[in-house]
Amino acid sequence: MASQPQLTVPTDAELLQAQADLWRHSLYYMTSMAFQCAVKLGIPTAIHGLGGAASLPDLVTALSLPPAKLPYLRRIMRLLATSGVFAATDVAEVYRLTPISYLLLDGVAVVDGHPSQTSVVLAATSRHCVEAALGLTDWFRKDVAGSPFEDLHGVALFDGSMAEAEPEIDAVFNEALEAHDNSGFLPVLQECGGTLFQGLDSLTDCGGGNGTTARAIVEAFPQVKCTVLDLPRVIDNVPADGVVNYVAGDMFSLVPPAQAVLVKLVLHHWSDEDCVKILAQCKKAVPSREEGGKVIVIDIVVDSSSGHTHEAELLMDVAMMVLTNGRQRDESDWGEIFTKAGFSGYNIVKKLGARGVFEAYP
Ligand SMILES: C[S@@+](CC[C@H](N)C(=O)[O-])C[C@H]1O[C@@H](n2cnc3c(N)ncnc32)[C@H](O)[C@@H]1O
Repeated sequence: MASQPQLTVPTDAELLQAQADLWRHSLYYMTSMAFQCAVKLGIPTAIHGLGGAASLPDLVTALSLPPAKLPYLRRIMRLLATSGVFAATDVAEVYRLTPISYLLLDGVAVVDGHPSQTSVVLAATSRHCVEAALGLTDWFRKDVAGSPFEDLHGVALFDGSMAEAEPEIDAVFNEALEAHDNSGFLPVLQECGGTLFQGLDSLTDCGGGNGTTARAIVEAFPQVKCTVLDLPRVIDNVPADGVVNYVAGDMFSLVPPAQAVLVKLVLHHWSDEDCVKILAQCKKAVPSREEGGKVIVIDIVVDSSSGHTHEAELLMDVAMMVLTNGRQRDESDWGEIFTKAGFSGYNIVKKLGARGVFEAYP
């Protein structure tokens, strides 16, 4: 019989800390649910409406909550202030916005045009996603190909069948996708727009959704003729704007030719095999490297740095596993996919937060 390994007994101090950490890990979802509650109640917008700082009684009145709920609101706000969603001042429990709650203002025109991310919170904390995550253990034990989401709900997230089966939640997810994808593109234009788009005559935005990104590129670089490729059910709902050319199609079959193809926040929804197929089509659409051909990929890049950004990258990776067939990739994973798709080389132009901007050359 194999001998049992020696068990190292933690010290009393370590055990006390471990117990607190165990509570923290088991109850993290309370933070997510308190976060969802703050968004549904509209607390960030109410704080903004109250001049950017609000006491608990102010909030209770502004949100039309029963006065008896004030002590409970205090407990939610205290937790969310500890996790950085709000800033608490010690004086008379006044709460202010932080950059996170700034992203959750609804119906407020912000100077940088940053889209409100409330739909992202509502989608990510929806019953559909939480139930799929609860099914993770069963999914591991079953020999099934689809994601836990697909296994449980019988439809793939963002698939056309989802719109028929669950129109309401499909609308929330699509709104979330749009808000999520359209956030953070202005920094890309400012930080590396010149490198990416200066001198290009044409560009196809592959899986370009409703064309928000393409229109921002044309505004900054009017010489670039932009085409957006997306599925018919997306393109059929986009009104012609005279700025961008919209093409309904399938990126697995044909990507409209251009000097460069952009693939922004598309590939992390797909398996490695599918990414290679998509990128091979993108490569076919562009001329040789000598003629200025390139494929620009903007997507999450997992890096080994510690801290909140790295934790967010890993959470997004597990979210992809639970909800889709995709994954988040580190730089060497991306390099492997570019090579398999037949590119001769690639360059990481910039890392912006959790996102990386790549150029891959035919
Ligand atoms: C995560 S969104 C990214 C949207 C956009 N690139 C952005 O950053 O704003 C993925 C997009 O890929 C589109 N898509 C999915 N399958 C596709 C296919 N087979 N051919 C073309 N587009 C597709 C979806 O409709 C969706 O608009």
